[in-house]
Amino acid sequence: MRTKSYLILTFLFITAQLTAQTLVKITVEKQKPEITVAPNMYGIFFEDINFAADGGLYAEMIKNRSFDFPNSPFMGWLTYGKVSVQTEGAPFPRNQHYARLLNDGLLTGTGLLNEGFRGIGVEKNKKYNLSLYAKNVNKGENKLKIEIISAANEIIASGEIEINSGDWEKYKLELQAEETCAHAKLRVDLISQGELDIEHVSLFPAETWKNRENGMRKDLAQALADLKPGVFRFPGGCIIEGNNLETRYQWKNSVGAVENRPVNENRWNYVFQHRFTPDYFQSYGLGFFEYFQLCEDFGADALPVVSCGMACQFITDECVPVDDLEPYIQDALDLVEFANGPVTSKWGKVRVEMGHPESFGLKYIGIGNEQWGEVFPKHLEAFQKAFDEKYPEIQIIGSSGPSADGEQFDYLWGQMKKLDVDLVDEHYYKDPDWFLQNADRYDDYSRKGPKVFAGEYACHVQPEKKNSFYAALCEASFLTGIERNSDVVRLATYAPLFAHVDAWQWKPDMIWFDNLRSVKSANYYVQQLYSKYKGTTVQNVKMNGENVVGQNGIYASVVTDKDNDQLIIKISNTGKSEKEVELDFKLKELPGVLKGKQITLKANLDDENTLDEPFLVKPLEKEVVLDSKSPKISIEAESFHVFVLDL
Ligand code: AHR
Repeated sequence: MRTKSYLILTFLFITAQLTAQTLVKITVEKQKPEITVAPNMYGIFFEDINFAADGGLYAEMIKNRSFDFPNSPFMGWLTYGKVSVQTEGAPFPRNQHYARLLNDGLLTGTGLLNEGFRGIGVEKNKKYNLSLYAKNVNKGENKLKIEIISAANEIIASGEIEINSGDWEKYKLELQAEETCAHAKLRVDLISQGELDIEHVSLFPAETWKNRENGMRKDLAQALADLKPGVFRFPGGCIIEGNNLETRYQWKNSVGAVENRPVNENRWNYVFQHRFTPDYFQSYGLGFFEYFQLCEDFGADALPVVSCGMACQFITDECVPVDDLEPYIQDALDLVEFANGPVTSKWGKVRVEMGHPESFGLKYIGIGNEQWGEVFPKHLEAFQKAFDEKYPEIQIIGSSGPSADGEQFDYLWGQMKKLDVDLVDEHYYKDPDWFLQNADRYDDYSRKGPKVFAGEYACHVQPEKKNSFYAALCEASFLTGIERNSDVVRLATYAPLFAHVDAWQWKPDMIWFDNLRSVKSANYYVQQLYSKYKGTTVQNVKMNGENVVGQNGIYASVVTDKDNDQLIIKISNTGKSEKEVELDFKLKELPGVLKGKQITLKANLDDENTLDEPFLVKPLEKEVVLDSKSPKISIEAESFHVFVLDL
């Protein structure tokens, strides 16, 4: 008898517990003082890692097009017959190598095959623009046959070019693919007996983003545009710093005629020995002009980052003495002139000659990437002084190093406050628990002094570091805290952005692609939802008087959008059971009924979008109508929702 009553009591107790767990009350009231969301809050971090630029966004299909990969002028090319590398009389002084082809009647013929970036991706019936520079070595005429060859060794596009000059000339040919192939090759075959030189062999799809010459891959640029980015940070990452000072990113090498932009190493080609990629170099075809142009296309603020005179500290302690920083500082100042200066200025003129008379309206600059130690603040101070004198309107972004906390982080934050930089770049590549536990990270940050630029972050779910739905759910939950603290965090960018499925060094990444297709990760959709529905004004959201940071597995933030007259609720449930959330709106002037849409991200925690299954995780929209007096909404286990309601 006693056992039976005990069981009944236990049952009642558990049921009561479960019922209590499922109902969650959240109050929403006006935030005082008002907190505004930065209009450019969510953006893009771009770095040429994982073939993001060369072999990715930059639509060039020929690898090592100018025969200038350091120490390996024919890397990416397979030569047959008599082909040699030459430098004398090179047409582009900053890319000195070119190829000489001699066909003296050998049965093998003479020519070269380019393997592209893990293949060349062509689509049936689509057109491709080939161009190259050539000159005959002796008088007379020569003929080149140009072919696209499929992975099955079939010729799927073909054309001929007659070389009729002894001087360097540019030749063009339009090719149309008869088949679709992701791993094609380009063959350049000297079919006449004779000798000629070729340089800068280039192949672009006829259709690029905005159909620009030297353009971007359409699907990848469109995916970026669809993020509605407010800010665009480029060109990295560690790539800015270089593995030594000589190979740091120098923006001046990335502007002007593409043929004359000197090839640089890509530090990601050897830094990760387990993802060794020895054929990865930077052509700078996607250079600073193109970055600024993309910013303009997307309506995003440009946020270039420059070397502060310290090479990547993970690799070396190579560092310029503070007194010798002048050329580095000058490069940074000249960048502002390039972006914003008039045609009468040296660097403004370069921009105008590249086709952009108007200013790009640059207002930010990052000095250094993940720097640490006592030297960095000294370097930064020297840059800051020069900017205060010449461009006081430009906002300076400093660094808190590679870690999200710890001794160096605290030290650097102290230094950044002393220097009174505008924003401090914070990076966190952390596990799910960190993201869930850090939804309150910024609640107690000082409201005075520098603001935060959450410049690189991603949830890493071990061991595979997949772009799983779980990673995205943790990021979505964490971002409620960023949104709530929009007065402290003014910019946020997920990282890294792109990865080629056959050539990546780092994961997870926001967008994956091969030579023909691309796929948006679950993490992409989280960023997109925050960016599209960032609102303008933060509201105060509480559960039992506390910020909603994971109690009962619930994370929530609310903004209103003054421009679109909307109330936007973001809510995630990381728990294993559905929760009923009762919303108590203490906001004035709400209509009796709130109509709008509910956008949901829900999938198995381990689900990951892939090229073959691109929509395992995707936002689903439905219409909703809520009574504005204490509506109850059911939030499924392990799901993220955005309610966009008309006011
Ligand atoms: O995003 C990849 C790398 O992570 C970046 O280059 C660097 O800043 C960070 O360590």
